[in-house]
Amino acid sequence: MHKNRVFSRRRALVFGVGALAGVSASLGLSKNKQWQNWAQAMAAANTDFTVQGDKSMRERAAAKGLIYGAASDYAILLKDPEFADRFGKECGILVPEGMLKMKGLRPTPTTFNFTRSDWLLDYTQKHNMLFRGHTLVWHNLLPDWFKETVNAQNAEKIMVDHIKGVAGRYAGKMHSWDVVNEAVYPWDGRSDGLRNSPWLDFLGPDYIEIAFRAAAEADPNALLVYNDNRVQYDTREGETMRTVIFKLLERLKSKGVPVQALGIQSHLWGDEVRFNPEKYRKFLSDVASLGLKILITELDVTDLNLPQDEAERDRIVAKTYEDYLSVVLDEPAVVAVLNWGLSDRHTWLSELRARPDGSPVRPLPFDRDLKPKLAWNAIARAFDQARPR
Ligand code: XIL
Repeated sequence: MHKNRVFSRRRALVFGVGALAGVSASLGLSKNKQWQNWAQAMAAANTDFTVQGDKSMRERAAAKGLIYGAASDYAILLKDPEFADRFGKECGILVPEGMLKMKGLRPTPTTFNFTRSDWLLDYTQKHNMLFRGHTLVWHNLLPDWFKETVNAQNAEKIMVDHIKGVAGRYAGKMHSWDVVNEAVYPWDGRSDGLRNSPWLDFLGPDYIEIAFRAAAEADPNALLVYNDNRVQYDTREGETMRTVIFKLLERLKSKGVPVQALGIQSHLWGDEVRFNPEKYRKFLSDVASLGLKILITELDVTDLNLPQDEAERDRIVAKTYEDYLSVVLDEPAVVAVLNWGLSDRHTWLSELRARPDGSPVRPLPFDRDLKPKLAWNAIARAFDQARPR
């Protein structure tokens, strides 16, 4: 099946690149950007994405002691059985995209609604998959009552009760929890680089430590993860995020806080060429040297600035996956890779990063008809080539 999905390099070179130059120009990209797109397309055209055999991504990952999975959600898996079936075959782990966020779970300050997350847990058990929690403490998607209810006096109790209620409910059944999500935002101007979130406003920087200790108590078996974004590129932003996150993790570890892994979201850009494998390897091994595992938690590749031609776009997206995963999977501390969605049929990027030419986005391993794309091949190949854990 997938064996035959080799594109013709010659065709790509003759037609694709010429078309690309035109499309890049029509997208209004600068000469420099057009050149980068062209160079990327050439590199993608020269990459062999052949995959041997017809095993699923979850099987290929498992063969190396790795976990592969993706995010999805209640309404999707419930209403789209064809997708739910494919998801179960390809994924060894499910993370709810929204249903375990505070807003989804907490209709009032004293109540929990676990109907939808329980349904998801049940789905994972039926498909023999792991279940992953995202996220206990975040500045975003807080319940509507949060603003008028939470203050400096009650914030700690509300946070700890939330963690105990939610992590406690799924204790023993969760592979891992993103205990704290996106606590770092150096552009808020604090010397420690932390984000000015409501939790920080009420509790100070110790809220992170309090959250991890409460999670460890509520579910001693789940792997406790600090999850964040924007660390991957060789840009000023990437450099700053890497430095601040490493310092945060170092500080937490030195205080005996039970943080056990770093989650790297990995929302990639297909047109971004500033990826420096050496610097990234160094960051991953620095994190590992703190005794932490690493998970790739929300992988997708935005095709916003890529050419309209689907075959061309898919090659560049696949090459982006390949370049990234080959570096990431070289680090033995990396234990899991999750996409943020599995098929282009259901992706948050359809709204967030809609293309100016109106053509549907193609950031994930499966297309809208649930056919594997070259991105699928790139991920499968990365697992096949990974060292066993
Ligand atoms: C996003 C979901 O995909 C959207 O559907 C939702 O509206 C907002 O949140 N980083 C995270 C995720 O940690 O929780 C975000 O998920 C995407 C960015």
